[in-house]
Formats: sequence, structure tokens, C-alpha cells
Amino acid sequence: MKKGKGTMRRTGWSFHSGWTLAAFIAVAAVAVPACGSDEGPNGGRDDGTGGDTPGGDNDPNGSTGTTPEEEIRKILDQRKTDYGEALRTASLKLADRLPTLEQIKRIEGASGDAGKKAAYEAMIDEMIAAPEFSRVMIKFWKDTFRVGQVGGIQNNVNKDGAPNFAAQLTVEGRSYTELFTATDNTCPTYDGETNEFTPTPCALPTNAIEGPTVGVLTDPGLQSQYYANMAFRRVRFVQETFVCNKFPAELSDKPVPMGSGTYTGTMPFKSITGAENKADARVDFHDTKAVICANCHANLNHVAPLFTNWDENGALRNGPQVKVPIPGEPNVARIDFLPEGEGLAWRLNKPLTDMASLGQALAADPDVTRCAVNRVWNYAMSRGDIVNDLATVPESVTQPFVDKFTANGRKFKETIRDVFKSEDFTKF
Ligand code: HEC
Repeated sequence: MKKGKGTMRRTGWSFHSGWTLAAFIAVAAVAVPACGSDEGPNGGRDDGTGGDTPGGDNDPNGSTGTTPEEEIRKILDQRKTDYGEALRTASLKLADRLPTLEQIKRIEGASGDAGKKAAYEAMIDEMIAAPEFSRVMIKFWKDTFRVGQVGGIQNNVNKDGAPNFAAQLTVEGRSYTELFTATDNTCPTYDGETNEFTPTPCALPTNAIEGPTVGVLTDPGLQSQYYANMAFRRVRFVQETFVCNKFPAELSDKPVPMGSGTYTGTMPFKSITGAENKADARVDFHDTKAVICANCHANLNHVAPLFTNWDENGALRNGPQVKVPIPGEPNVARIDFLPEGEGLAWRLNKPLTDMASLGQALAADPDVTRCAVNRVWNYAMSRGDIVNDLATVPESVTQPFVDKFTANGRKFKETIRDVFKSEDFTKF
């Protein structure tokens, strides 16, 4: 995310008392049963963070005296409203420039708190209605999806399609859930001259067969960007982008000691493929010697088979296109993930049949809803990456926005408007 000069003040969230949100998070951090995932086989990914779900149900501090959340709330409430300062930050975020002199004067000239508030809020509405907002949203979604077209389009794989579509949904005040459910026109073009999005279906990449469109889940640019062995990176993309935390995705409230650690997953240990149900498994997801693979792979393996048939170019093909990382690099087969007869699932007791059902599951998942709102919050407050910098948001802070988002058709644009007009944004 862009951090303009004028936004630096918010970075780190310094409060009057010297508390920072980072310190708060350290206090509130949820105890995670050691799963040894820090030493996972996945190239230095810093895992072991799966416990800090935005849900935070297993917060050990939740039931005693003043909670850290209440403490932080008190500190937040002591701040003073400053619409001039808020305008400056909002303008950098929503219009990618400093406020004009005319805008600054409108706040200065307004009388009383109520007058300044009204002037400020009118300017937020103006910024959200302006052409700059479309460009800012395209940039926001490119950053969020970590994708974007560099140079000319090769083999018909357009890496701007998904961010353009997400920006279009935002700007046009459409539902966030269309990201997971739209069946057509998910690769719009954007014309900077006219500020218009033109609904456009995604082009078929070279060698692709035509399949159903499921929001951005079937987007060729994203499929190409996240191509990797066994399609696990694509599932990771869905998890981290739309749920806002890393694998493990689900933690059981009855962890089971196993091998060198603890199995913390919710799905039955043997519901995925490994030595315990397939002696000649090509990858042993039942391994517990160094790490408990199943802590992450119970969920990963129940989704990944949906993503195996897109090739490196993001072209959907008739059979699996991703490899098993063993000598000879064979293409995957379903049995590499799940034993015979085991069905796909998004979460425990959330069965899947196809990509469209994954889209439905995401659209209905409260963690996905919360993640969307928390991304807006972090963007407004210039906080770091919600997944990699542990910039998680206390549930109580964003709950009112989550409730409104849910009740009002999950319009991302309205949440942006609400957060930029909120007390938390206008107080310093
Ligand atoms: C902390 C969660 C976690 C644990 C524990 C874990 N994995 Fe993974 N694994 C992942 C994720 C996430 C990916 C996708 C990484 C990517 O490509 O970005 C992955 C990728 C993989 C891949 C494909 C990567 C490649 O290119 O080779 C294999 C194979 C794999 N895991 C096997 C295992 C095995 C076997 C174990 C246990 C010994 C294990 N994993 C433990 C999360 C985990």
C-alpha cells in the first residue's frame, strides 16, 4: 500500500498513552497449540499464526476483568476529533493526492463541530464519487490480489482482469460476494479517459477449454499467478486473501497429541491421503515426524482438487496440470489429496461439489465477511498487510462495520465510506 507523507502519522497507531495497536495485539494474541509449522516445508513461510483468527473465540483473556480490548477502547475514546487532519489522510487514500486549498478552507470555514463534520463527510462522498476513486480501487485490488499486468498480454492471460472486476464491483456499489458468484464479465476493462468499466468476459488463454465462470476464482490471471505444485498455492491465495489468515485454517477445541506435536485440525486425521490409508502415498500427509502436515493439509487437501486443472498460463484443461513434487514430477491425481470416497469440503461440515459451491461457501462464510471489512479498516488506518504483518484487527473495533456490511448487501464501497467517516478515523 502506498504510504504518503501525510499518512505516516497513523502508521503504528500511536495513542496518547503510548500504547500501540501492536502492543495490544501482543497482549491479546491467542495461544496456539504448537504445531511446529514454523519449520514447515514451505520455503520459510512464517506459520504458526493460525490462532489469531479475527474470530478470536479462544482468546484466553476473554473472561477475566478488564479485557485488553476494553483497555484499548478506553484509550481510543480519549482521542480528539480533527477533521482537517482526517481530510488530509482521507484524500491521500481515496484520491491519491493532498486536499486542495478549497477543500481545506471548507473545513476551516465551517462553524462548530457539527459544521466541520458535515463539510468533511460531504467531501468523503465527493471523493468516493470522483474518477480518482476508480484508479485508487484498481490499485487497492492489485495490491490485495498481488497481481497486475506487466507488459503486453501473453497467451491471452490478462492479469488485470480480477483487480479490475473487484474495483468495478466496489465503484458501482455492488455486492462483495459477486467476487465469488459472478458467472460472466469478470474481466472488465477500465478506460482512464472516460472513467468507465466495460463489462468483458475473460478471454480464453491459449489451449484452454471453456468452463463455468465463478467470480474471480476461475480468473485466468490469478490461476496463472498462483500456479504451483499440487495447486496448494491457489488454495493459500483464497485463504489468505479472503479469510485474512494463514493455514492452519481451522483449529479443533480438542487437539490430539501426535508424533512430535499435536493435531489441531477439525477434520478426521485420516480424511486426507497419507501412509495410514495408502501405503504407497506419493506424498504422506499423515507425517508427524517434524511437523503435523495435516494441521494445514486437512483443509488444503479438501479444496485443492478444484484447482488442479488450470495450467501455468491460467488455461483450464481437461485433466490435472499441476505436479507432485517427487522425482519425475508426475501430474497430480485426486488420490494424492484424498482417499477414495472422501468428498471435498471448505470447512468441517461444509461440503463442496464444484467451484460454484466453493464460491457459495465463501460468500456465506462470516470469516470472509469480517476479512473484507478488516481490509478496509487496515487500508484506512495505514496498517500493514493483514496477513503477513500480523496486522489483525480487534473484533470489537470493526463489529459495527461488519454488522452494517452484512445487513446492507455487503457493499464494499459503503464500508469504505463508513470507515472514513467513523470516529476512529477522524480522531487523533
Ligand atoms: C503450517 C501449514 C502447513 C504445514 C504444517 C504443512 N504444509 Fe504443506 N503447504 C502449506 C501451504 C500453505 C502450501 C502452499 C505453499 C505455496 O505454494 O505458497 C503447502 C505446499 C505443500 C506442497 C507443495 C509445495 C511444493 O512446491 O513442493 C507439498 C508437497 C506439501 N505442502 C506437503 C506437506 C507435507 C508432506 C507436510 C508435512 C511434512 C506439510 N506440507 C506441512 C501449508 C502447510
